Amino acid sequence: MSNFVVQSQSQYDQLYKESIENPEKFWGDFAEQEFAWRKKWDKVLEYDLSKPYIKWFEGAKLNITENCIDRHLATKGNQTAIIFEPNNPNEEALHITYNELAKNVNKTANMLKANGAKKGDRICIYMPMTPELTYAVLACARIGAIHSVVFAGFSAKSLSDRINDATCNVVLTADGGYRGDKITPLKEITDEALQSCDSVEKVIVLNRTNSKIAMEYGRDVWWQDEFAKASDECPAEVMDAEDMLFILYTSGSTGKPKGMVHTCGGYMVYTNYSFRNVFQYEEGDIYWCTADIGWITGHSYIVYGPLSAGATTVMFEGVPSYPDMGRFWQVVEKHKVNIFYTAPTAIRSLATCDISLVNQYDLSSLKTLGTVGEPINQEAWDWYNNHIGKGNCPIVDTWWQTETGGIMITSIAGVTRDIPTYATLPLPGIQPCLMDENGNELSEGEQEGRLCIKYPWPSMARTIYGNHQRFAETYYNTFPGKYFTGDGAKRDSNGNYRITGRVDDIVIVSGHNLGTAEIENAINEHSNVAESAVVGYPHDIKGNSIYAYVTLKNNVGSETINDEIKDLVSKTLGPICKPEKIQITSGLPKTRSGKIMRRILRKVAANEMDNLGDISTLLNPECVEEVIKGRV
Ligand code: PRX
Repeated sequence: MSNFVVQSQSQYDQLYKESIENPEKFWGDFAEQEFAWRKKWDKVLEYDLSKPYIKWFEGAKLNITENCIDRHLATKGNQTAIIFEPNNPNEEALHITYNELAKNVNKTANMLKANGAKKGDRICIYMPMTPELTYAVLACARIGAIHSVVFAGFSAKSLSDRINDATCNVVLTADGGYRGDKITPLKEITDEALQSCDSVEKVIVLNRTNSKIAMEYGRDVWWQDEFAKASDECPAEVMDAEDMLFILYTSGSTGKPKGMVHTCGGYMVYTNYSFRNVFQYEEGDIYWCTADIGWITGHSYIVYGPLSAGATTVMFEGVPSYPDMGRFWQVVEKHKVNIFYTAPTAIRSLATCDISLVNQYDLSSLKTLGTVGEPINQEAWDWYNNHIGKGNCPIVDTWWQTETGGIMITSIAGVTRDIPTYATLPLPGIQPCLMDENGNELSEGEQEGRLCIKYPWPSMARTIYGNHQRFAETYYNTFPGKYFTGDGAKRDSNGNYRITGRVDDIVIVSGHNLGTAEIENAINEHSNVAESAVVGYPHDIKGNSIYAYVTLKNNVGSETINDEIKDLVSKTLGPICKPEKIQITSGLPKTRSGKIMRRILRKVAANEMDNLGDISTLLNPECVEEVIKGRV
């Protein structure tokens, strides 16, 4: 067992201390002991957060796939790397060994090369949760191409925006993707997206659903045909530690999503480190993270973290509600899952169902539970603990972000104490702090403020693709010298953190990070809409939901306007962005400089009318009353 995997509270204390007294030694020792490098680094860390300028392991050479695959083959070639559980419970599950993973990734890599992909190219992956998605991600890494995975629930417009932002030359997709009893027409959506993407030269299409689709001659090829032709040997491209590994888009406060850039060396080091520590993965454990690889959780804790640790990771193609709301527990029983990692929103929705859907399955294999993506409320925590963990499993509430690359604040399963509704303590190596609104760091002990990280860690995002200025402004200018997370947090007298939620214009709906500006832009595209303001409001199952205030041109609408707006958002951005509530109003409260007062709209949507603050300085205070009366 590595001495970097914490085994006791006292070891945590000791390691934490060492990690902040001498971070370079800490990370340098871990990186040296635990990975296969082609060449060692010249310097562990170089940084200046005022620029920001961040380089980890500069001068080192590696390929992350050699660490996720090749180095395991001598001892674990026949061990299962991936258990694939299909959407349809009657379709056979697949157990893919590390040997098979190696061959499949190499074949996929050669398939990519044969279709024009090369080192440094950006490859868009818009695929269902099949093993080929994992092969595709790793195949890009193998040849040094930069993957940009777009969640397969996003619309054609979201897809084309992301393809264009990164000027991708190859797109990997499927004819369709199974989701419960539905099929998402991925190729059709891709075709629509590509009408406005000039950079794309090749589309490789996996046949998953046997759907009838159009193939464009010269551009589109079938995955299975290309794969069959490809050799199963492909030498790994030697990469610099600071070369880009991937781009992953996340919502921003302005309408445009941000392409977060992660690099090869630091990301590999930190996802492995955090995976092994947080979940205390032991040889032979079956680990299941229910996220989609389209999100950072899937990148870090389905693919890279577990595979670099030589683990067995479950990939689930389906949804928690199909064929019924007992599906998660049926899969836990079937594959004897030991470590189960999911989102609070899933727990809340499953907790509303008949408990027999849980109790008919044997969950005794479970030893560790985890949550991610949003705060978990006490009731959901209790239900998870009592009914799933049967009171015997530690629950790690892991706080982190697309930008952080890996888990930052969490308990360590069975080692440090978990406290319901608290993410608890930073992992060794992570230095959080709380800031007040005037930019002062709040001293040790019990405090509430804005959550920042004051020292670099290896998997931090390096930039926003193509827009370093925006990266600096979004994350490093608010509190100079510190990374600003956009979250608020409380800290207790023992140093435990409790995340209170976003303090910017991002709303977390069912664990998905949505930018209100982007939704407003979509609503404003409706020909009758004059203006809109989108806010989040508390929702029992989803954590938050979307409330849209809309004014119409000449105040003239139609009976179907609400449905039209919902359809438009769904089509423009994807169904997850659809407003739950729409209020048509004749005006929106504005400051004298014309800025919409979202603070007031947030309070009205949350039904907190008694505490609206001073409205006398508004340009149009009279409209507040209308907004209150018209609340839906
Ligand atoms: O607000 C925090 C919330 O999710 C945001 C990051 O979203 P995203 O980049 O999509 O990554 C989600 C998966 C890592 C954070 O700024 N968040 C994430 N985890 C937690 C959380 N809020 C409270 N508790 C958590 N455990």
